[in-house]
Amino acid sequence: MKTFYIETFGCQMNAHDSEKVIGTLLAQGYQQVPTPDQAELVFYNTCSIRDKAEQKVFHRLDQFKRDGKGKTFAVLGCVAQQEGEKIFEKAPHVSMVCGSASYNQLPQMLVQLEAGNRRVTGLSLDTDETFETPMTRRDNPHRAYITIIEGCDKKCAYCVVPFTRGPERSRTSASVIAEAQQLSAMGYSEIQLLGQNVNSYQDPSPAGWDFAKLLDEVGRVEGIRRVRFTTSHPRDFVKPIIDAIDTNPYLCNHVHLPVQSGSTRMLEAMQRLYTREEYMQRIAWIKAARRSIAITTDIIVGFPGETEAQFNETLSLVREADFDDAYTFRYSVRDGTPAVRLKDHVPEEVAAERLTRLIEEVRDNVRRKNLARVGEAHEVLVERPAKRGGLMLGRTRNNHLVLLDLAEASIGEYHQVQLTGTTGSTFTGRALMPQLAVL
Ligand code: SAH
Ligand code: SF4
Ligand code: F3S
Repeated sequence: MKTFYIETFGCQMNAHDSEKVIGTLLAQGYQQVPTPDQAELVFYNTCSIRDKAEQKVFHRLDQFKRDGKGKTFAVLGCVAQQEGEKIFEKAPHVSMVCGSASYNQLPQMLVQLEAGNRRVTGLSLDTDETFETPMTRRDNPHRAYITIIEGCDKKCAYCVVPFTRGPERSRTSASVIAEAQQLSAMGYSEIQLLGQNVNSYQDPSPAGWDFAKLLDEVGRVEGIRRVRFTTSHPRDFVKPIIDAIDTNPYLCNHVHLPVQSGSTRMLEAMQRLYTREEYMQRIAWIKAARRSIAITTDIIVGFPGETEAQFNETLSLVREADFDDAYTFRYSVRDGTPAVRLKDHVPEEVAAERLTRLIEEVRDNVRRKNLARVGEAHEVLVERPAKRGGLMLGRTRNNHLVLLDLAEASIGEYHQVQLTGTTGSTFTGRALMPQLAVL
């Protein structure tokens, strides 16, 4: 039996792709091993969202080479798609390069590898298929990802994803619901719907569901207690999504809505297709919901042309939107993206200093919000042992992490928990009693 090892970087889409790749390999009779030195085949699923992520790939490939005589190496994911056959030149020990739009071809590609072909590629983006697997090897026994839409049709000026994942392709609503039902029967109670822009989901079958309808229906699958979704593009974020969350208690009260900048001028340069006011309109919808909905975001600082005044607009938007958390990034120029030709670069030290100020602003805001939450009662799903103190780590419906003094046997259980303190980001909590009934 052939053995394989897989290592994964990048977003949740990549993490879930790897789960499906593992399933595909197992279905082909391969056996997974936990370290590269035990493996004959080494798969590396890569991310190229920022320059650093891509540099890391070649560094890691060199490391693999040093320890990996006689092994076969395959590069998957976004760097594979972005760099294509150039990878064979830069890292000649690599025998296969395959982007995410070609994973359906993996079984045939494995046959070519077995036959001794040392330049196997899957790099076409010209597809209307989604990645369907005979088997998916999920990492977490309680929370499962389901990809509902692949690719991205937006053209944000800084972003490689449209070039690495190809055009948008939605799965049929029937296959998504069937997968949710199957997961429920296997004991999963939480589902996370995935896509680079879930809001542009459009059912290709005659049922014709949009995202709000799909979300609501997944939340109605028996046995599913929590449904999350990521990521939402603000342009396509419509009010019916909030209405669904408001009426269906199984949908989690958390929305990740990347804003990128608080300046309409910058948003235009980024080709984000909305203004600051339109973004704040979505925030107003979310805040007007009957249930309190947590809002998180992504922000880029130092995009070409960003002035101090425009950066200050981002700081003021962070205060105004009152985010529950934000992922903050310094702009990284990416080959092949529209922003490459923009001139007016923000000096590195200026961008670094802005990033520091932004992180402080976010941290202060999050700490203030979280302190105000201490004392609240929340439903928590216990996920895994925490790194310290023999405690367990769980998650509230609105996506806050809580440390709990519970036994390891509680993993997978839902508990009603009172929040007793916060470090600023994570909470400590006290389990009141196991919660059997939903909500
Ligand atoms: N599809 C998602 C984004 C996926 S990438 C969306 O549209 O929201 C995740 C985040 O990485 C983006 O939201 C953005 O904040 C950041 N990012 C993407 N390209 C970047 C770049 N070139 N430099 C810095 N940050 C970037
Ligand atoms: Fe990239 Fe924009 Fe598509 Fe998100 S919506 S993946 S940021 S191009
Ligand atoms: Fe990275 Fe590709 Fe995801 S570039 S963030 S792995 S879509």
